[in-house]
Amino acid sequence: MRGFQLSSLLAIALLVGACGEAPNPSKRDGGGDANRGKQVYLAQCTACHASDPAKEGPLGPAVKGSSRELLEARILRSSYPPGYAPKRSTTLMPPQPTLESDIPDLATFLR
Ligand code: HEC
Repeated sequence: MRGFQLSSLLAIALLVGACGEAPNPSKRDGGGDANRGKQVYLAQCTACHASDPAKEGPLGPAVKGSSRELLEARILRSSYPPGYAPKRSTTLMPPQPTLESDIPDLATFLR
């Protein structure tokens, strides 16, 4: 009896834990977390881009709606996806390859 109760409790605990994960809305699109993306954006990008990504920044252009491919190319390689027409012809933005794992979050925030 005692063993049965313990394992039922364990099963319930596991179920509750699983339910806590499931309805996380931030995982819905792009696989990233928009709130994390916002933190990264505010910390790493707003020296040049506006804190509202839909607006022109002091140095960089508006970046709202940037695709994951564009962010990867720009942030990791200082390049652009094939066929993409850049908003600026300058190459002032430095690559930040240490942000590789933050790109899904950035893409979800900027979408
Ligand atoms: C040192 C200033 C600076 C920083 C920091 C910076 N950028 Fe930029 N960014 C620019 C400038 C300037 C451009 C315009 C192209 C160029 O000169 O490199 C640009 C262009 C871009 C573009 C291409 C826009 C387009 O559609 O043509 C994207 C996307 C972008 N930045 C995203 C980011 C993100 C995300 C971060 C933070 C991880 C970031 N940038 C950090 C200055 C910066």
